[in-house]
Amino acid sequence: MQVRKVVIPAAGMGTRFLPATKVVPKELFPLVDRPLIQEVVDEAVASGINNLILVTARGKSAMEDYFDIDPGLESFLERKGDKGMLQRVREISRMIQVASVRQKEPLGLGHAVLCARDLVGLEPFAVILPDDLIDAAKPCLAQLLDLFARTGKSVVALQEVPDDQTHMYGIIQGQKTEAGVYRVESFVEKPPPGTAPSNLAVIGRYILAPGIFSLLESQERGVGGEIQLTDALNSLAGTDGVYGVVFEGLRYDAGDRLGLLKANIHYTLKDDMLAPGLLQFMADKIAITKK
Ligand code: UTP
Repeated sequence: MQVRKVVIPAAGMGTRFLPATKVVPKELFPLVDRPLIQEVVDEAVASGINNLILVTARGKSAMEDYFDIDPGLESFLERKGDKGMLQRVREISRMIQVASVRQKEPLGLGHAVLCARDLVGLEPFAVILPDDLIDAAKPCLAQLLDLFARTGKSVVALQEVPDDQTHMYGIIQGQKTEAGVYRVESFVEKPPPGTAPSNLAVIGRYILAPGIFSLLESQERGVGGEIQLTDALNSLAGTDGVYGVVFEGLRYDAGDRLGLLKANIHYTLKDDMLAPGLLQFMADKIAITKK
């Protein structure tokens, strides 16, 4: 069955970026001149998915405005004759169909996904976390969709992480079935240091069978008192089956302050207009700190 819809959970509190997130959703933080959420929507569109389900919260409606048509801005740019920017602005509101639902309390990622149940319906769907940015020759979501097409099972993105970081992630135990592909036997959310069953961490890209919703509905609160997607995935692995694919690409954790800065440097260096100035600035800074 074809995957037509992508859920983007964006209702979290963004506490690591307070006080900025008191008024600006972290999903709208700039990646050079585009909001983070634009980067992951581009990934979904490049992977062939054009229906976005946005899970939002009170105070975050600017995200819906961002994807809406802005006639005032468009006529302003038209009058100014700024055709390039006019085209960019037009593309944003026309590239994807957006539906949104509110998560009334930030009860965790699993709960945020459950909020999208009625909008998803009874079909497999994708989930992208907007603070996990992955720059890849083939979009990460497309890599997952390939495996889904071959197995017909839910698929998660995996990345190998060092031993001292496993406690920060959902970690899998699994059987390798081919290069970079695992049949997942179990998932554990944020295992205490030294107890992780592997170094394979789940990163924010998923293709999920609709059966995940009934598992989420009956899911007890887990780590941090939140309804964890990882716990429902663990149940799904034991019943329907879940695969994991070690994706190819560079990942930045933009939900973390240093990660967001690194992502901005990475994407700035990809911009021919900005890269020379940034490199010069960094070289000057390094020279000063070495003195
Ligand atoms: P994070 O845990 O990174 O986001 O969730 P957070 O809770 O907003 O950030 P901190 O830890 O307080 O700084 C990953 C994604 O899941 C969404 C977030 O908005 C983010 O895009 N999320 C998280 C929800 O939609 N609802 C939740 O209850 C929790």
